[in-house]
Amino acid sequence: MIGIKICATGRYLPGEPIHNEAFTSIVETSDEWIRTRTGICYRHIADGDTTWHMGAAAAKSALQDGGIDPERIDLIIASSLTGDYATPSLSCLIQKEIGAQNAMCIDINCACSGFVYALDMARRYLACGDVDTVLIVASEMLSRITDYTDRSTCVLFGDGAGACIVKAAEKLFASHLGADGTGYDLLYSKNDPPASPFTKKPLIEDAISKTDRKPHSLFMDGREVYKFSISAMPQAVRKACEKAGITPEQLDYIVPHQANVRIVQTAMKALKLPMEKAVLYIDKYGNTSSASIPIALDALCRSKQVKAGEKLCVVGFGAGLTYGAAVIEC
Ligand code: ACO
Repeated sequence: MIGIKICATGRYLPGEPIHNEAFTSIVETSDEWIRTRTGICYRHIADGDTTWHMGAAAAKSALQDGGIDPERIDLIIASSLTGDYATPSLSCLIQKEIGAQNAMCIDINCACSGFVYALDMARRYLACGDVDTVLIVASEMLSRITDYTDRSTCVLFGDGAGACIVKAAEKLFASHLGADGTGYDLLYSKNDPPASPFTKKPLIEDAISKTDRKPHSLFMDGREVYKFSISAMPQAVRKACEKAGITPEQLDYIVPHQANVRIVQTAMKALKLPMEKAVLYIDKYGNTSSASIPIALDALCRSKQVKAGEKLCVVGFGAGLTYGAAVIEC
């Protein structure tokens, strides 16, 4: 089986870390509630930055890490639910900024599972032999869609970007991706309703359009998403391991989507794995949606703990609902 080699990683966090205490003057909350219920202490929130700029900064950090010429990138896959523009795409803006003029550019939006979906796509392109070097960038400015009057969500999210550069290699790789669209109304951000001189009929309604949530502000049914994630995460890891022909116990690291430390603890327990194997940076960065896994991956790779041949599993879940896991041999 053709797998992938992670050649380089990078990350970018905007501004200074913002402590939980900063939220106590905005909504009724406390540092203690946020820390004990989520594991979050700090997050970065953009001030004057853009999603494309954060993504390009993370990509440049990865290019520098691997000593890779941007002209050698054949494909850029950018993941975001908080892009700057409906069009042009985030990947095109990143391509321009880093000077990767030989790259095809694709954007995906699979919410917090986006990085795992992007990795799976990259592996398929690489396995076909059509491309040699793929840059994956996940950049999220959740502050753009966060409702800072809603204490149940505003304390959770952070802004940031993570990147990784991959090539084909004779290494173990297996992925398991999935979605459950019936949960589409558990986590959403509405767009503005379309207006045209030809509009005569009312919009076809769905559970989201019927709500009176402000356009572009994120709604989450936290308890339902929590329930979904504690079952989807271990299941996705088990299925990816099964496809890779290994057991979860043979994994050296789990790099999970960083939404809530309690979700990770419950999933690790279900998998019968020690918490030491979970790579967690939620205390520093909060939930950065699809950027959370590549940010954690970069921190792990730069800590130089990872040895050749070790196996890690990236696993994500999020709006859609979507989920996915991929086993990678380092
Ligand atoms: N400070 C103080 N109290 C709060 C806060 C806050 N920031 N937020 C909620 N509360 C209160 C609630 O109002 C509630 O009060 P009540 O009992 O008087 O009604 C109480 O705390 C408990 O609320 P719960 O929602 O039951 O709290 P819970 O322990 O479930 O934690 C949380 C909430 C952190 C949101 C949790 O449900 C969670 O992590 N859900 C999953 C989130 C997730 O995984 N998202 C992933 C996708 S994100 C993406 O795709 C962008």
